[in-house]
Amino acid sequence: MTQHLTVVEHPLIQHKLTIMRDQATSTAVFRQLLREISQLLAYEITRDLPLTTTRIDTPIQPMDAPKLAGRKLALISILRAGNGLLDGMLELIPSARVGFVGLYRDEETLEPVEYYFKVPDLMSERVVIAVDPMLATGNSSAAAIQKLKDAGAKDIRFLCLLAAPEGVERMKQAHPDVPIVTAALDERLNEKGYIVPGLGDAGDRMFGTK
Ligand code: URA
Repeated sequence: MTQHLTVVEHPLIQHKLTIMRDQATSTAVFRQLLREISQLLAYEITRDLPLTTTRIDTPIQPMDAPKLAGRKLALISILRAGNGLLDGMLELIPSARVGFVGLYRDEETLEPVEYYFKVPDLMSERVVIAVDPMLATGNSSAAAIQKLKDAGAKDIRFLCLLAAPEGVERMKQAHPDVPIVTAALDERLNEKGYIVPGLGDAGDRMFGTK
């Protein structure tokens, strides 16, 4: 991917996103729409995956047919909200390997601290797609991407549902080599770090917590 930020303006995505933003939307519908949008975004973020060919026999004749080249993709969920994007993406890419990165913010230093990290082997040979619905300050996303680089990942992409300009800028400074695909670039962050207009706390909305 060449662009640092891609906003996927497909009408189906925009329509579904509007329903997700609405605070009257139920947990069940929110979750279902997140699943659907994750597949549409996954379609976009995998658009340039390299292909090779394989020799097959159709009922009519042999042919050299396209298939994905290289190792299986790695999908990395940034906990916990990333899990809401994972299921739908796995339906589309069922053989992908899956990893998880868990970070919390130290209240004193405000630095992200890792509490869980488990990723597939041979990260340097995989296309790695890190997923987190909300790119807000970008601090935890940038830290998670750094952990993936420390584990050897070289070709990393970042998929989110909503991005704030502050988060995009933070990621651009920290990881200019990591393209971002999102459904919308919102206006700003508020004083509590929520995306405006946003959709609230994505984790709470998808899991029904408060
Ligand atoms: N995380 C969320 O879930 N929502 C925001 O608006 C910002 C960060």
